[in-house]
Amino acid sequence: MKVLVTGGAGFIGSHIVDKLINRGHEVIVIDNLSTGKMENVNPDSVFYCLNISSSSLHKIFAEEKPQFVIHAAAQVSVPNSFKDPILDCTTNIIGTLNVLECCRKYQVKKIVYSSSAAVYGEPQYLPIDENHNVCPQSNYGVSKYTAENYIKVYNHLYGINYTILRYSNVYGTRQESKSEGGVIAVFLERIFNNKPPVIFGTGNQIRDFIFVDDVAEANIIALSKGNNEVLNISTNKSTSINGLIETIETITGVNIITSYSRSSPGDIYISILGNSKSKEILEWLPRYSLTDGLQQTLKVKEE
Ligand SMILES: NC(=O)c1ccc[n+]([C@@H]2O[C@H](COP(=O)([O-])OP(=O)(O)OC[C@H]3O[C@@H](n4cnc5c(N)ncnc54)[C@H](O)[C@@H]3O)[C@@H](O)[C@H]2O)c1
Repeated sequence: MKVLVTGGAGFIGSHIVDKLINRGHEVIVIDNLSTGKMENVNPDSVFYCLNISSSSLHKIFAEEKPQFVIHAAAQVSVPNSFKDPILDCTTNIIGTLNVLECCRKYQVKKIVYSSSAAVYGEPQYLPIDENHNVCPQSNYGVSKYTAENYIKVYNHLYGINYTILRYSNVYGTRQESKSEGGVIAVFLERIFNNKPPVIFGTGNQIRDFIFVDDVAEANIIALSKGNNEVLNISTNKSTSINGLIETIETITGVNIITSYSRSSPGDIYISILGNSKSKEILEWLPRYSLTDGLQQTLKVKEE
C-alpha cells in the first residue's frame, strides 16, 4: 500500500517509515525538518521538505495519491506551546486541518493520528483509560485534542476512517532531548557528557515509558485494524523518575549523581495509561520492558 507519513524525519515518524518500508510498502514523507533530521529519512522513501500547513500539500496529494496517512508531524514541546502558542496552534490544529482537507479531496481511506496523554490533564483515576475525562493542562494538550476532534468530524462528514493513538512517554533511538517525552533522551545526553541529570521536582513523579518500536508497530497495525477508535498506546506500568535513574545506573554501571530543580508548569505529577483497549482492538502488545528498551537505545548510542 501507499502511505504518506507526516513527521517522517522525526523521532517516532522515522521509525514508522522504516517499518513500513521493511514490510514492502511505498512511503511518502512530508516534514519541514524543524525538529526532524534529514539523516533520519529512509532513503527508500520519497521525501518532500514541506510545512504541513502549506497549500502546496494539496499538490503532493494530487500527485502521489496516498491510500493511507500516518500523521505524526507536530509542534511537540509543552514548554514551547506556552512560549509560542500561535506556532503550536498553526502546526497542530491548522496543519492537521490542511492534512484532513487533502485526505478529503484525494479520497484517503484512513488517517492514523499521533495523539498524546497530554489531552487527559490531571488524572482522576489510574490507570487512565480512554473513557477518562479530557481536560488538557497545556496549550499543546489543547491543540492535540482539537486535532482529534477535527479528525472525528471529518469521519462523520466525509467518511474518512481514523485511529487516534494517544501515546504515553515514548523513548528510544533518534529521540532529541527537546522532544515531548524527552526525559530519557535528556538524561542519557547529560550522563554521556559527564553532567548530572537535572530532576524537576522530587523525582517521585510517575511516568509510563513506552519504547518507540512498540509505538511504530501500533501505527502499522492501525492501518488495517480498528476503525474509528481512540486508543492509548502505553505499557500500563509505572516508573518514577528516581526509579528510571536507578534502572539506567544498573544497565550502564555508572553511579549517577543527580541535581534537583523546581517542576515546570503544565507538568503532570502522575501519568499511567491503561492499554487494554488497544491490546483488544489492535491485538498489539508492548514487547519491550524498560530495561530492554533502554538497552537498545544505549546500544545504538554507543555504536
Ligand atoms: N515523544 C513522545 O513521547 C510523544 C508522546 C505523545 C505524543 N507524541 C506525538 O508523536 C508525534 C511525533 O513526535 P516525536 O516525539 O517523534 O517528535 P519529533 O519532533 O521528533 O517529530 C515531529 C516531526 O514533525 C516535523 N514537523 C514539525 N512541524 C512541522 C510542520 N509544520 N510541517 C511539517 N513537519 C513538521 C518535525 O520536523 C519532526 O520531524 C507528534 O505528533 C507528538 O505530538 C509524542
